[in-house]
Amino acid sequence: MGTLINKRLLLGVTGGIAAYKSADIVRRLREAGAEVRVIMSPSATEFITPLTMQAVSGHPVHQHLLDTGAESGMGHIELARWADAVLVAPASANFLARLAQGRADDLLSTVCLATEAPIAVAPAMNQQMWNNNATQSNLAAVNKNGIKIFGPGEGSQACGEVGPGRMLEPADLVTLTSELFATGELAGLTVVVTAGPTWEAIDPVRGLTNRSSGKMGYAVAEAAAEAGAKVILVSGPTTLTEPERVRTIRVTSAQQMHDAALAQAATANIFIGVAAVADYRPAQTASKKIKKTAERITLELVRNPDILADVAALKPAPFTVGFAAETDNIEAQARQKLESKKINLIAANRVGLDLGFESDENSLLLVEHGQVTELPAQPKPKLARALIRHVAASYRARSGAEIYQLRS
Ligand code: C5P
Repeated sequence: MGTLINKRLLLGVTGGIAAYKSADIVRRLREAGAEVRVIMSPSATEFITPLTMQAVSGHPVHQHLLDTGAESGMGHIELARWADAVLVAPASANFLARLAQGRADDLLSTVCLATEAPIAVAPAMNQQMWNNNATQSNLAAVNKNGIKIFGPGEGSQACGEVGPGRMLEPADLVTLTSELFATGELAGLTVVVTAGPTWEAIDPVRGLTNRSSGKMGYAVAEAAAEAGAKVILVSGPTTLTEPERVRTIRVTSAQQMHDAALAQAATANIFIGVAAVADYRPAQTASKKIKKTAERITLELVRNPDILADVAALKPAPFTVGFAAETDNIEAQARQKLESKKINLIAANRVGLDLGFESDENSLLLVEHGQVTELPAQPKPKLARALIRHVAASYRARSGAEIYQLRS
């Protein structure tokens, strides 16, 4: 099963007796690490109250499309953008018909049209309604639009009949939802990621470091694991929890990061250097704390090795991705870095006093030989998934080109 840690789940609840199980779905999604917001159709509120869903999700329930109060808070477009995935459970026959037609006259159907996130529906209805040709053709249309259908199960129904149409159990729905994120785009590949700052010791208690939190690198490692890769994360000092399904190697200095990263990169397919590596380190590290006696002291610094450039010089080299934090002239600076380090892709972002390093959101400009792609500002986990999707496509395009060159 995949993980739902850091995932934003939008649960749509439509009118059917199985709606009484929706509170349990929310509880289980949250236990699996997701943040959950709920949209209820008017008929769903006849089966379970918005107050219950608010209590279990920890957020007010969204119900109306044309409500000035709601739209001025988190309106339909914000909800559509916020979601990492949409699950509609239970999905009534009526809702499936509306989804098949691409209707946009209530909040849930409108959000389903407006979101780029994956959508899954868990149908729940009487077995005759399920077997009806109209429902089956609606389902085929929904499926053709890329929407996943979870279930339904078979068995005794609330109406006393027996047959297909029971909503899958909450635990199964949570497992299937977590699998929505397991894209398999990097299946069979090894990815090495560096993250966080480095610490260059001056003496036993002092050192040179920077404001990198490690959040972006950890999110990239997590997204690569989710995409099916074997991931090794070489991390500088951070306060973050080690991601699941990732082998984390902890280092302190740039030299240690260099040595660990190069050893791992030699057998990797993709290398992503997200770490904010110190360019210089003190020429000497004092073995004892430097005392406050002299009026003026001088710290001599020497250059650290460039990890990315050294990885890119390996033969064979992995597909190499660097990060560039710039305050101005982003694209030109990124292109210059791409050329000088001889790497495949630079993910550049603007940093300033309030942007980039410690914040939870970021945007990226992906600069490659011959193309530039912009990933707009979004939470780091979501941005990391978009980056991994792009890297996987560029990696495949390059590997395809190499195979073509060998054959021609
Ligand atoms: O050269 P600059 O530090 O601006 O480039 C940033 C990119 O290079 C980042 O991906 C960072 O991880 C990497 N880097 C490195 N080794 C260094 C310095 C930076 O791999 N010594």
